[in-house]
Amino acid sequence: MLTLRKSDIKGQAKNLKLIDQALRDNFYTLIVGHTGTCKSSAIYAMANEHNKVITRINLTGQTGEDELAGKMGLIKGETVFVEGPLTRALREGHVVILDEINAANAEVLFLLHPLLDDGHFIRLMGKDGEIVPAHEDFRLFATMNPPEYVGTKELSPAFLSRFHMVLEFDFIQPIQEAKLLVERMNIREDDAATMADIAKRLRKKFEAGEMLTLISTRDLLSWARLHGSLKSMRQSFDATILNRAIQSRVDKEVLLSEIKTATSTGQPDPEAVEEPLTLIEQASALRNEFAAREVDIVSRLAECGKREKEIAEFTIERIRKLTSATGDGAETPKSGIGAQIKAARKQRGWTQKQLAIECSFPQPYVSEAESGVSKRPVVLDKISQVLGITFSSEEEPPVVVVGEPLTTDVVSNEDESENHVTATLSFEEILTELLA
Ligand SMILES: Nc1ncnc2c1ncn2[C@@H]1O[C@H](COP(=O)(O)OP(=O)(O)O)[C@@H](O)[C@H]1O
Ligand SMILES: [Mg+2]
Repeated sequence: MLTLRKSDIKGQAKNLKLIDQALRDNFYTLIVGHTGTCKSSAIYAMANEHNKVITRINLTGQTGEDELAGKMGLIKGETVFVEGPLTRALREGHVVILDEINAANAEVLFLLHPLLDDGHFIRLMGKDGEIVPAHEDFRLFATMNPPEYVGTKELSPAFLSRFHMVLEFDFIQPIQEAKLLVERMNIREDDAATMADIAKRLRKKFEAGEMLTLISTRDLLSWARLHGSLKSMRQSFDATILNRAIQSRVDKEVLLSEIKTATSTGQPDPEAVEEPLTLIEQASALRNEFAAREVDIVSRLAECGKREKEIAEFTIERIRKLTSATGDGAETPKSGIGAQIKAARKQRGWTQKQLAIECSFPQPYVSEAESGVSKRPVVLDKISQVLGITFSSEEEPPVVVVGEPLTTDVVSNEDESENHVTATLSFEEILTELLA
């Protein structure tokens, strides 16, 4: 990571002052803010001002207590306790940054408790509970994204209260952001202003739940840097911002309309890249992708026993229908997870927005889930939980009737009693897999 100096950081004067105070007076500090708002860089910059050694630890749900504290290991044929980064930092008096603290699992939180509890020590469970007190120069910072991020856990109020200070990092004002872009990259002021303005509008849409992609200052810097070389707002936008929105087609549309409006000066951009795919083209590309994978589906289905070919054909047909475009969007699926969600939602009399609020995530997640193109297992899990519906069960191998009685043009059916075809893989499962 490029280490910024204090003077390189724009628009965060108050927060920098508080970080400075935390470093002086040993305030354990939690910093909350969207990704790319300079949380880590601000701690680095201030810690450098104080000539401190920094130990940064990135936490995930899988990070174990021993990765922080240490564990027994073999060194030169001898079994010894190898200290982890947190233990070393406590002994030597480093500034520790615990990134993504809200991802920490119970084991890690347990390790941190005596440290945060004014006890200022940790207990090495791998070394008979040896106590390691914090050096007087030890300082602790933790960072996290706002709790509304999908997939992040909320910190318990009890845990939060153990920090002496909680700072909030927000995106800086467009004027300051534009200034930053001009100072750091080789671009004109008016282009920088356009970029900062676009970012501001897109962030508003994000806050309103209208899109999932959030444009950070870091993203803007990438855009400005590429534009500095290519001298094309549009080409550099596509490569650094637009194509980042891989999680959502809705977002791509929003991003495209923003950039088009912002860069339409009346004169055509000579460097303009070809038109983006329309929804119909996207759907047709998806169809081709499925077609390329038919072999896979057939062989997977062959494992579920009889009538595999018919089921496969029927399934493929269904997928084709689901993804075939009409008008300006894909057909609403008549069956499948999307349809189930829609039906369950309507039964409750909720709008998509209401369901999104209940699930605490942005509305486009719901519309994507309902159109059957959601690629997010977390989202589908949450929706099924909120609506109290089950798509398929883990304990019981799903025995699902594939469609309504199969029509004879799909399955040549000699035996009337076999009109309902059962498979050990449900259509929904296949679809989920295919769309995953
Ligand atoms: N206010 C700002 N002033 C200067 N640079 C910034 C600012 N906000 C973001 N940046 C740039 O974006 C990057 C943000 O990275 P980082 O500090 O890792 O953010 P976070 O930890 O919040 O995800 C920094 O390296 C810096 O280059
Ligand atoms: Mg960070």
